[in-house]
Amino acid sequence: MTWLITGGAGYIGAHVVRAMTQAGERAVVYDDLSTGIAERVPEGVPLVVGSTLDGERLARVLAAHAVTGVVHLAARKQVGESVERPLHYYRENVEGLRVLLEAVTAARVPSFVFSSSAAVYGMPDVDLVTEDTPCLPMSPYGETKLAGEWLVRATGRATGLSTACLRYFNVAGAASPELADVGAFNLIPMIFERLTRNAPPRLFGDDYPTPDGTCVRDYIHVVDLAEAHVAAARALRASPGRDLTVNIGRGEGVSVREMIDLVNAVTGHDRPPTVTPRRPGDPARVVASADRIAAELGWQAEHDVQDMIRSAWEGWVRLHPEAARP
Ligand SMILES: NC(=O)c1ccc[n+]([C@@H]2O[C@H](COP(=O)([O-])OP(=O)(O)OC[C@H]3O[C@@H](n4cnc5c(N)ncnc54)[C@H](O)[C@@H]3O)[C@@H](O)[C@H]2O)c1
Repeated sequence: MTWLITGGAGYIGAHVVRAMTQAGERAVVYDDLSTGIAERVPEGVPLVVGSTLDGERLARVLAAHAVTGVVHLAARKQVGESVERPLHYYRENVEGLRVLLEAVTAARVPSFVFSSSAAVYGMPDVDLVTEDTPCLPMSPYGETKLAGEWLVRATGRATGLSTACLRYFNVAGAASPELADVGAFNLIPMIFERLTRNAPPRLFGDDYPTPDGTCVRDYIHVVDLAEAHVAAARALRASPGRDLTVNIGRGEGVSVREMIDLVNAVTGHDRPPTVTPRRPGDPARVVASADRIAAELGWQAEHDVQDMIRSAWEGWVRLHPEAARP
């Protein structure tokens, strides 16, 4: 069985390639390298540079590599940028997916795993977010993920394609320093970035209705997330016509204040945070119920938040040696 992994040169995609190949699956990476890094693709795994908007190239790759399953991670992922450039996000994330699904169904590829996001839920007013919590995305990015799920499920119903929509919560950590996230768009790298500049980490509001007043999120180690893709891919192969939608989180909330304390402790810094105004559209609490994925795939997270910080920090220090000051 050969899996086409779109976005396999990206942060999460490279971890999925690693987990799939370690599990004995064959992989081919398809990536336009817009944010991806070719060196992340391991030796022995073919890398085809191309866009998901290029249906002809996709058709050639699916045939040439006798692809029997797709894991589709290629997408633009910045919420703020999606507010400024909605047409670009809809084109890359929704039109790119539609073109890919056309090629996949024409080639009669039987299995399709789609990277979705907790952003589909928007501002859920519940303690634990289940897959049945209403989806009310707050940004064009979240909308493209929800529209993507609709597209994937509708195609599955119409053609018998086996599908899995995986709703990732907050992804962090790395399997090795070279595979670490190089952007500073998520909380952990944002705290690293402040510590590196000798500036206090920011709390973005401390008057939310949470125990310590700061926002609470569910963090998932990218290595655990990648293993969930292996489990989903195997489940689709074993049961044709399957239609699975699952949260991928740990079911445990960590507040921004707690995360800053943990980062200080793990990295040897000692920098108290500063309170800055709330960011528009930040929900108070978004924590997954991870029951469905445990029941459906027998998967559960193994790594804790300290593991995420430690491994992310090793990757950060590799690129920013000045950060390891204290
Ligand atoms: N990082 C997170 O916390 C998070 C959370 C929820 C969901 N996701 C989803 O996970 C997926 C991977 O995210 P990531 O963090 O690895 O981001 P990333 O930017 O590191 O990876 C995206 C990859 O896709 C490629 N790409 C983008 N548009 C493409 C296109 N049209 N055609 C071909 N290749 C294209 C990029 O070059 C890059 O290699 C995305 O779908 C994202 O929406 C990420």
